[in-house]
Amino acid sequence: YMVDKGNHRHFMEKEIYEQPEVISHALGQYIDFIENKVNPMTAAIDFAKVPSLAISACGTAYLAGLVGKYWFERYARLPVEIDVASEFRYREIPLSPQSAALFISQSGETADTLASLRYCKEHGLKIGAVVNVKESTIARESDAVFPIMAGPEIGVASTKAFTCQLSVLATLAIGAGRARGTVSEAEEKALVRSLAEMPRIMGKVLNSIQPTMESLSRELSKCKDVLYLGRGTSYPLAMEGALKLKEISYIHAEGYAAGELKHGPIALIDENMPVIVIAPHDRFFEKTVSNMQEVAARGGRIIFITDEKGAAASKLETMSTIILPNVDEIIAPMIFALPIQLLAYHTAVFMGTDVDQPRNLAKSVTVE
Ligand code: G6P
Repeated sequence: YMVDKGNHRHFMEKEIYEQPEVISHALGQYIDFIENKVNPMTAAIDFAKVPSLAISACGTAYLAGLVGKYWFERYARLPVEIDVASEFRYREIPLSPQSAALFISQSGETADTLASLRYCKEHGLKIGAVVNVKESTIARESDAVFPIMAGPEIGVASTKAFTCQLSVLATLAIGAGRARGTVSEAEEKALVRSLAEMPRIMGKVLNSIQPTMESLSRELSKCKDVLYLGRGTSYPLAMEGALKLKEISYIHAEGYAAGELKHGPIALIDENMPVIVIAPHDRFFEKTVSNMQEVAARGGRIIFITDEKGAAASKLETMSTIILPNVDEIIAPMIFALPIQLLAYHTAVFMGTDVDQPRNLAKSVTVE
């Protein structure tokens, strides 16, 4: 591929801003926007009949899979076993040959993910691949391929592939829910309408938050450690935020389930370690706010990433509050991924690191 940066300083920046476009392209493959329905799913995997689903992946793709787990369990009532590929393949997981397995990989070449796929194949499971590169090994060895249509991703730190993986997983979970009778036709319509709105909302968010994220990044670039907290689907997002920041800015960061704060990381809280709280105004909001209070009571500085309802409902003093539009729950992970990506990006720019080619990391890891 011949790909250039266009008007952007780095591929990562270009890929962040490309998201509304590539996601609408991806969704177009999976959704019938006239009928507001998910397109008929592949016959290769019978989601109506499978007793469970196994998901395996590495890095950012694994974190997309973790969000997918919440969706498959909630919407399709399908139990999901998920692990990073380098553990999954060695764990000797008891797997039912009636089950299906999904492997998520941007490159489709990651060695551990491929080994997990082959392990599941040997155990007789039906194999689905959520990949960006359609001609990849993982795609070729699968029964069903679900392309994410993100286009070439050059930045080592994954951005648009992550939100495209999420978008595809959301449609698969809704489709599985329809097949299993756990999502009604009316619910499907409502969910699909939310997905359809997503690219436009993403564009709006990207156009409005950049200056705030840039000035916040100046503060972050002075820190040695950063903690990210989230609950529900915001928990994998907290881990993705931390992963992104450490990968490209080399600042130590950890993502934690908000409820686990008191079981460890609370010991680290002081004015030197900012705590980034990802909390849309969902059914977990009040719980997460009480975790924020625990941080505030110990002198911790909070960067609060929330929506309009969340900002109005919380009276806590924060170092900064980033207010996103109120959106339906199904699209919140993709919308909340944007400030997280920009924060990591601008912090790395301030640090003067090689944003697109961070040290010691590779875009595709074909060694075990
Ligand atoms: C590397 C890349 C990450 C990516 C991971 C999995 O660590 O730097 O950005 O998430 O591999 O890669 P895959 O191609 O399987 O999604």
